[in-house]
Amino acid sequence: MKIAIIGAGSGYMPGVIRGVLHRAADLAGTELACHDIDAAHLEVMTRLATRMFAARGADVPVSVHHDLKSAVSGADFVFTTFRPGGLEARHLDESIPLAHGVVGQETAGPGGFLMALRSVPVLLEVAEHAGDAWIVNYTNPTNIVTDAVTRHTGARVIGLCDQNIGDTEMWAELLDLPFDRLEADWTGLNHATWCERLRLDGRELDLPRLLDDLEIPGGGATPWRDPARMAELAKALGFLPNSYAKYYFFHDEVVAELRAKGTTRAQDIQAMLPAYYDQVTAESFRDDPDPSRERGGGEHGEFAVDVICAVARDEGRRMIVNTRNNGAIASLDPDAIVEVPAIVGRSGPVPLTMGELPRPVRGLTRAIHEYERLAADAAVTGSRRTALQALMAHPFVRSKHTAEKILDEGLAAHRAHLPQF
Ligand code: G6P
Ligand code: MN
Repeated sequence: MKIAIIGAGSGYMPGVIRGVLHRAADLAGTELACHDIDAAHLEVMTRLATRMFAARGADVPVSVHHDLKSAVSGADFVFTTFRPGGLEARHLDESIPLAHGVVGQETAGPGGFLMALRSVPVLLEVAEHAGDAWIVNYTNPTNIVTDAVTRHTGARVIGLCDQNIGDTEMWAELLDLPFDRLEADWTGLNHATWCERLRLDGRELDLPRLLDDLEIPGGGATPWRDPARMAELAKALGFLPNSYAKYYFFHDEVVAELRAKGTTRAQDIQAMLPAYYDQVTAESFRDDPDPSRERGGGEHGEFAVDVICAVARDEGRRMIVNTRNNGAIASLDPDAIVEVPAIVGRSGPVPLTMGELPRPVRGLTRAIHEYERLAADAAVTGSRRTALQALMAHPFVRSKHTAEKILDEGLAAHRAHLPQF
């Protein structure tokens, strides 16, 4: 088998290597074809992979590719995990909207919209070379990227996000439940999922009652976890929200906090990256501590490799992925790309029937879907009108003039990465 990794110089790569190691027996003989446009980071990460596989006796040959086509051609799986424009571009995604009073947010916000405009053209190029391979996509915004590739190419694609794992872990802690015995029905759109059904050892829990009894914890917010706000929100809703719900329901407070903080998340990551790559480059470095755990994606690598194994080995495993709705969520279009529990096997994900979305967030989720659909179309066609419509439809924006400013400044700032405009 051949797995191409596009964006293999990424800071998340140690987690991917750990993911491959944890399934090394199932992947024996599989070639990892690693590609990145950053040759130096690609070398650091492929050397680490080779070193770690050798140390553990894993039979996983690693090849290095500077040409996208040679990496992707003949692959069975193409794992995409790149950020066009890097963290400099992410900084612009986060700061341009904020200057106009809107949370930029690199995935869920208008910052994610600008990222979609850069990500989609590269994914379309990957799809051109992918043939029958499954594209297992982490490149954000994963839902918009998956939608664009699904509707505009013949390629097979599964959109990934491991947020559901981290969020279930957070709720296990908040509700004092054992994480490894829980199963949660996270349902909706990427970074806009909701969970009305939580099971312990297969038995459904009385969530509204558990939430009534929940005490709101103090403080403790990290860049991806805000337990106090999540508890406050869940107590009001009577079900569990995705961590990104804070940007919808506490938008103006978050704007004030981000302005007071003064640096973007991109800048914070940029400040820690040199030490991070130094650590990974050291010959003595193996995988513990894994520096990618300091980022938002602690489960990122294992999850991606588990999805690949589920398809390759026809495991029929229940996993939460982004795929075509096909009626799984009654409140959304059948051809929408949704994030739902699915059974993943040889023919890809088969979404499980989830019914209606909870009424308090049904309209919001539908609005996000309409925004995402417009964003995918704008990213493919380069239509300025569609792009403006997308931003006007975005729940954080809802202002023509603000949408225009974000669009004009975003298109100018990212010109080099937007061949379609
Ligand atoms: C979570 C999200 C990812 C996102 C990441 C950002 O894992 O699910 O979609 O890319 O956080 O983390 P970072 O450390 O880059 O801010
Ligand atoms: Mn995600």
